[in-house]
Amino acid sequence: MSDCPNVTETKQNRVLTEMDWKEKWKTRQIGFHVKDVHPLFEEFLNEMISGKEKLNIFFPLCGKAVDMKWLADMGHNIVGADVCELGLKEFFEEQNIPYVEESVTEIPGAKVYKSTSGNISLYCCNIYDISDSVIGQFDGIWDRGALVAVNPCERERSVIVIIINVI
Ligand SMILES: C[S@@+](CC[C@H](N)C(=O)[O-])C[C@H]1O[C@@H](n2cnc3c(N)ncnc32)[C@H](O)[C@@H]1O
Repeated sequence: MSDCPNVTETKQNRVLTEMDWKEKWKTRQIGFHVKDVHPLFEEFLNEMISGKEKLNIFFPLCGKAVDMKWLADMGHNIVGADVCELGLKEFFEEQNIPYVEESVTEIPGAKVYKSTSGNISLYCCNIYDISDSVIGQFDGIWDRGALVAVNPCERERSVIVIIINVI
């Protein structure tokens, strides 16, 4: 995740490591989190859903985005991935969704937090460690503060990982 030797560390364009993100969550530097569903999601929802039911939607770098609950409440299946377990646990706790924690045998050290109702699974792992053999395949992806959070030199790699392994 920190393999960005050519990126100059500046205030605006800083290389963030997994540890940096964990520190941000721990020290509540989470200004990216908003309490409402993103207005663009509301605008483009119909285009993404096309009237279909029970779609599988992936949220890369999901944090505790409330958009996931919004879609789950419509009957869709949600899978998210984030390196920080704090945000994932807070998602379930703040949304009052009962959940269980399981290890992920295919990814050493990874965990998955699953709603007991079974329609939300949030993987605590690096986006580069996931594959469709672990998280399945999807009908749609919602980038909510995801690509923008990937280090510039890793953006191409992260898009390739998502497209090849997930779609
Ligand atoms: C800008 S935040 C966006 C969170 C959420 N999508 C939202 O809109 O509130 C970026 C998130 O990506 C996570 N993250 C950063 N790099 C990651 C990586 N390589 N793999 C998985 N998660 C990562 C961080 O922990 C953080 O929660």
